[in-house]
Amino acid sequence: MTPSSESDWSSEDIHRLLAPVVSELPQPTSLSDLAYDLNAGVPDRETLPARDLAEAARRALEADPAGTLTYGGSIGYEPLRAWIAEAQAAETGLLLGPEHVTLTAGSAHAIDNIAAAFVAPGDVVVVGAPTYPGAIRTFKARGARLVEVPQDDDGLRVDALVAALEQQRAAGAPVKLIYVIANYDNPSGSTLPLDRRSDLTKLAAHHRVLVVEDDAYTGIDLDGPPPTSLFEVARGRGILRAGTFSKTIATGLRVGWVVGDALMIERLAFMRFDNGASPLMHRLVLEYLESGAHEPHVERLRSLYRERRDASAASLVEHCTPHVSFRLPSGGFFHWLHLGEGIDAMRLAETAAKRGVAITPGPGYFASPGGRDRVRLVYSALPPEALHQAIALLGEALNEVASASS
Ligand SMILES: Cc1ncc(COP(=O)(O)O)c(C=O)c1O
Repeated sequence: MTPSSESDWSSEDIHRLLAPVVSELPQPTSLSDLAYDLNAGVPDRETLPARDLAEAARRALEADPAGTLTYGGSIGYEPLRAWIAEAQAAETGLLLGPEHVTLTAGSAHAIDNIAAAFVAPGDVVVVGAPTYPGAIRTFKARGARLVEVPQDDDGLRVDALVAALEQQRAAGAPVKLIYVIANYDNPSGSTLPLDRRSDLTKLAAHHRVLVVEDDAYTGIDLDGPPPTSLFEVARGRGILRAGTFSKTIATGLRVGWVVGDALMIERLAFMRFDNGASPLMHRLVLEYLESGAHEPHVERLRSLYRERRDASAASLVEHCTPHVSFRLPSGGFFHWLHLGEGIDAMRLAETAAKRGVAITPGPGYFASPGGRDRVRLVYSALPPEALHQAIALLGEALNEVASASS
């Protein structure tokens, strides 16, 4: 065989080899190269703590070159797991040690690791409608059948969850896992009130369903601390809580974790086949956390994002009403806009893109068709003046789409 015939692979050849699920999954959202990116849910670039992290990396490498630069095992660096366990114990009052924590490559990987250990093809997983597209992709890729439970302004509707759990049980396909973003949901920005947390926990325990609490935005508290976590309400039983340093330090670290029952944690580590995450990153993050720089950094982020949330909300009222309505989120990165009658999210996203503004249309956040009356808008990544300019352009796009549809 000659090299040229080897390179004659067509895209059909490749598609024939790919697992069927690859072509069934939706595309992920990505960074946009438009002038105003209100699409990617990322932290502000200017405040990334690069200098402090560089110092932390130097200290980590000097203190333990061999430990930093060789395989560290599947469960991750014990002192960082102990730090996370201590923080979670202080928050929840539960008795937690490093055996209750495994480190993952961000919380996206935490979800995948949980799915690898708990979700078999055909298993039923409950997600919110809407929910984080990464979770939809992950659970689908693992063969799960997704059942959507609608959200309202306060997050997952527990009355609808009751119905879904009972329906699935009656149909002989009981729910295995419930995935919830209780604080500052992506995309809806909603925060589940305490009474719903308590009802959800009781329901899940009654049905013996595993709850996965995705805590990606916890810490980005813009109106004070959120209600007691699901993990604490459930006393740590029948629940795994996934966290990350992506939003409070930097997405590029790829350091996240899962907290839960020691047996479940051990099984998660068992179901990793990538030789574990980076020992260098684990030590770097711990050096940074212990340097005292983290708390003031998060405090600064909170005031920065609070200013951006409020500035963007004021611009939305000024430029986009009456075509949109929304509820102010109490944390996180997102406004979830409800579009007025006849305004289609896909059409709006295209029209806004022509004006240089990237927004994310609603359908990507639903496991089944839906969301054409919604768009997500990120306020974390741009300063107030740029947000104001972008939202003024979005207002023009809304006017154009609204007048074309009337
Ligand atoms: C709800 C939610 N979970 C998990 C993630 C994954 O974040 P990471 O893997 O960077 O921790 C994101 C990222 O946007 C998210 O919005």
